[in-house]
Amino acid sequence: MSRPQPPGTPEIAVRGLRKSFGANEVLRGIDLEIGRGEVVCVIGPSGSGKSTLLRCVNLLEEPTAGRVFVGGTELTDPDVDIDAVRRRIGMVFQQFNLFPHLTVTENLTLPQRRVLGRNKTTAAQVAAENLRRVGLAEKADAYPASLSGGQQQRVAIARALAMGPEVMLFDEPTSALDPELVGDVLAVMRKLADEGMTMMVVTHEMTFAREVADRVVFMDGGVIVEDGAPERVIGDPRHERTRHFLSRLLDPAMAEVEEETSDQVGGGGPVPG
Ligand SMILES: Nc1ncnc2c1ncn2[C@@H]1O[C@H](COP(=O)(O)OP(=O)(O)O)[C@@H](O)[C@H]1O
Ligand SMILES: [Mg+2]
Repeated sequence: MSRPQPPGTPEIAVRGLRKSFGANEVLRGIDLEIGRGEVVCVIGPSGSGKSTLLRCVNLLEEPTAGRVFVGGTELTDPDVDIDAVRRRIGMVFQQFNLFPHLTVTENLTLPQRRVLGRNKTTAAQVAAENLRRVGLAEKADAYPASLSGGQQQRVAIARALAMGPEVMLFDEPTSALDPELVGDVLAVMRKLADEGMTMMVVTHEMTFAREVADRVVFMDGGVIVEDGAPERVIGDPRHERTRHFLSRLLDPAMAEVEEETSDQVGGGGPVPG
């Protein structure tokens, strides 16, 4: 299954990706490459297609057109063993989706046993290793309800890591958390990045994007508007749409005023001048 790839093969490659839901074209031609060990943060307004893009990268959504490659294997090839490819991709959502009736360890061992067919002992060892990795070894026997949101999200990250993925996709992993719990989750993600994990992260944590990402991609209206180094895209955006989005992020009070008047100005479109 895993053929050796020529050097320089991107870990993730998206070519001419389009996705429609009925008449609504949500992705309008996305081209993106992410190298091995690269961390790319995806930012953009609500509804711009960020989640749909991530979901197309592991084929949770079937693209309408275009091709997606992970580790050189084409996911959009009709003959591909999609379950085998998907095992190489870990995904972390805003909602942690832990089983409430299972302990932390059981939440980590169940998918390893079901999907990878690991035996109980091996699965438990891998679970313990990955709980250590996210700083939660002492919570192995706890139930999710007894953990904070930040701890539950770190368990969800450990659960994904326990499957041994080559690539990790994160969809706003800290958006559901109280502000004081965000830091611990970002610290775990930063450590993963330092260890060389290939990561695609939808987030509005600009400090994380600046300090950890190799590149920042700004999406709007189903297209990539800008793609570049964080200090360039965040610090010196070339497009008015990016500047507009960033200024609203930095000053949410402005955003509220604008949303109230956006019907009149046809909100979301490029600002003239
Ligand atoms: N399963 C779906 N069925 C129909 N429309 C969808 C579905 N998923 C997303 N959409 C639509 O696609 C657009 C982009 O959504 P999404 O990718 O979630 O954006 P973002 O993550 O940037 O907020 C939205 O208009 C949303 O309503
Ligand atoms: Mg989303």
